[in-house]
Amino acid sequence: MTGAIHTGCAGSKIILLGEHAVVHGEDALVLGMPEAVCATCRHADGFSVSIPAWTAPSGENSRTPRNTGRDAIPDGMTGAFHCMFSKMKIDPPAVALEVTAGIPARAGLGASAALGVACARAINSLLNLRLTDDDIFEAVLAFENVFHHNSSGVDIRAAAHVGCGLYNRHRGYIAIEADLPLLLVVHSGVPGATGDTVKRFANRLQSHPDGPRQLKRLGELTRPGKSALVQRDWRSLGALMTEAHRILSWFDVSSPQLDNICRLAMRHGAPGAKLTGGGGGGCAIILLEREDQRPAMRQIVQQAGYTVIM
Ligand code: MEV
Repeated sequence: MTGAIHTGCAGSKIILLGEHAVVHGEDALVLGMPEAVCATCRHADGFSVSIPAWTAPSGENSRTPRNTGRDAIPDGMTGAFHCMFSKMKIDPPAVALEVTAGIPARAGLGASAALGVACARAINSLLNLRLTDDDIFEAVLAFENVFHHNSSGVDIRAAAHVGCGLYNRHRGYIAIEADLPLLLVVHSGVPGATGDTVKRFANRLQSHPDGPRQLKRLGELTRPGKSALVQRDWRSLGALMTEAHRILSWFDVSSPQLDNICRLAMRHGAPGAKLTGGGGGGCAIILLEREDQRPAMRQIVQQAGYTVIM
C-alpha cells in the first residue's frame, strides 16, 4: 500500500433547454460550469466514500438547499458504485474516496454526474486504468442510471466539459462557441427527484394523446435557443425558456415552488425563467439581461424565502 493520493474533479451543469425531452431522443442545450465536485482517492483496506458536504445535519431553515440532511445522498450509492466498477471492468477497489462538493445534491445541477465523473477520474488515475473519456462516460452512465432511471448522459457530458454545448443521446455532445448567459440559480427549498420525474414524464408522454406533440415542441425549442444564445438575444432565449417551463409543467415535472419562482421572476421583468434539470424540486434558473439586474432579482427571490445558489 502506498500513500499516493490522486484527485479527480468535475463541473456542475445547467440545462438551458431540453431536459426530459433529451431522454426521448431530442436535443438539449446545456452549460457545463467550472469544477464543483472533487474526489481524492487513496489506497485503503476496502472501498469507502465520504461526502461530508451532503451529509451535514439539517439547519433551521428548511429552504436552505445544503440542509437536505442525510436524504441528500441518494439511496443505492453503494450499488451505483458497483455498477460503475463493473463497467470499468474492475472489482470494487480497496480505495477511500473523500469528496468535496460546492453544489447541493438533488438540486438539478448535475451533482450525481459530477460525483461519478470526479470519482471515476480519481480512481482511473490512482489505479492507472488508462480509461478514455468515453470509457468514463459509460461507467458514469451505469452509475447515474441507478438514480435517474433512464439517464440520457447529458449531465455526464456537461460535467466533463466547461462551456455551452448541444447534446443528443444518439449524436453525442457538440461544443458551442458562445458566452455563458447571465443566470440566477434559485433553489426551490425542496430536493429534486429526477428518477421519479423521468418516470412521470414518460407516463404522461405515453398516456396523454397530446404527449408526443408537447415533446416535439419541447425538443424544437433548442434550435432557436442555440441561435439566441450565440447572438446574445436574451429576449428570444427568455421566451423559449418560459415556454419550456410551461411544457415541463404540463408534463407534471415542475412543483408549486418552482412555478412560483418563475412567476416572481417574470413579474419583475426577467426575460425568461424555468426549472432546470429533473425538476419536482431542485432549482429554477432566471435569465438576466445585465449583471446590474442581479442584486434586485436576488433580493426578490430571497424575500420570498428562496435560496440563491449562483
Ligand atoms: C436531468 O438533469 C436531466 C434529465 O433530462 C434526465 C437525463 O437527461 O438524464 C431530466
